[in-house]
Amino acid sequence: MKKTFNNIQVSGKTVLVRVDFNVPLKDGVITDDNRVRAALPTINYLTEKGAKVVLLSHLSRIKEEADKAKKSLAPVAKKLEELLGKTIKFVPQTRGVELESAIKSLNAGEILLIENTRFEDIQNGEVVKYESKNDSQLGKYWASLGNIFVNDAFGTAHRAHASNVGIASNIAESCLGFLVEKELEMLSKGIDKPEHPFVAIIGGAKVSDKIGVIDNLLEKADKIIIGGGMAYTFFKAQNHSIGKSLCEEDKVSLAKEYLDKANGKIILPIDSACNTDFKDSNPTITGIDLPDDLMGLDIGPKSIELFKSILKDAKTVAWNGPMGVFEFEHYNKGTLAVCEAIANLKNSFTLIGGGDSAAAAIQLGFKDKFTHISTGGGASLEYMEGKKLPGVEAIQNK
Ligand code: 3PG
Repeated sequence: MKKTFNNIQVSGKTVLVRVDFNVPLKDGVITDDNRVRAALPTINYLTEKGAKVVLLSHLSRIKEEADKAKKSLAPVAKKLEELLGKTIKFVPQTRGVELESAIKSLNAGEILLIENTRFEDIQNGEVVKYESKNDSQLGKYWASLGNIFVNDAFGTAHRAHASNVGIASNIAESCLGFLVEKELEMLSKGIDKPEHPFVAIIGGAKVSDKIGVIDNLLEKADKIIIGGGMAYTFFKAQNHSIGKSLCEEDKVSLAKEYLDKANGKIILPIDSACNTDFKDSNPTITGIDLPDDLMGLDIGPKSIELFKSILKDAKTVAWNGPMGVFEFEHYNKGTLAVCEAIANLKNSFTLIGGGDSAAAAIQLGFKDKFTHISTGGGASLEYMEGKKLPGVEAIQNK
């Protein structure tokens, strides 16, 4: 078991907290602040206990020097001030004298945010990936800035970077924050110890992105509903005609293997909403077999009813991935219907594994109707695959 705040004294200490403030920005404005809000319980706890709080996060990916201008964490510092009603000392540096003296001059209960940790990936125009490749000097340096490390960045827990694994490996004490603790508790309840019937709904464009999840859930779930573009690779494996739909030819035999192994556990759509091209105009509804000139862009109305009837009796539901081209108004019906059906289940444990499905549920106003919506897309996917998360593993055991 990993250490938590129950095992650590934080008062008066300088506490380095890795958070995941990788939020969507449009013209410098945060369009979804859920990840910032999700970090507040840990930040509030630490300030109330009189810790000196130093926050670290990445924002997006930094591939060249020019990316830095648009990827500063400055707007996040402002958002945090607004949400906490407190001053945040933002230091536009990831290392150096200014940062070190700003940290030294922090008083108990004060909060400092350092600049985007991935700025360390580019030095003087050169790609060095000090953060993303977990450069040992950088991890040591950041660790030297504090007494305790708290990992509360669930969204980044599947990465072994300097700002999580690097710091954790070089500091005297470390523990999980409230968000990571809660995420792990919920994912463990939903995936490892589900109440049955356990229904998993897997969507998205590609089978190749979800191989690990299907592998892991074939053993744990009672039914696996498959929707989205990946369903057509399964149809191909059953020798159905899929028209111009997306198909991963090199995964057809694997899909067939899964179908054989699943023994009826895998449920595929029974109709599709199609178009002649990848465009957002009125759909044609087909059965399982598609004519040559059409491509499937969403599940059809009969599939929606079928999926609802399976979900109805579920005691545990885990959902990851949209049922169709969710960003197209004419092809978002399947995703919306599935989302609503799960949200309306009474007395079931319902879990969304981050990414597009989480965004859809929140946008639709169902945020409070799920037992848990993960803040981590990649991280929750890897958890669902049964993998260990390096950001969690690096934290000290009790
Ligand atoms: C995410 O948004 O999934 C996390 O913040 C990790 O970001 P990354 O995929 O760029 O490492």
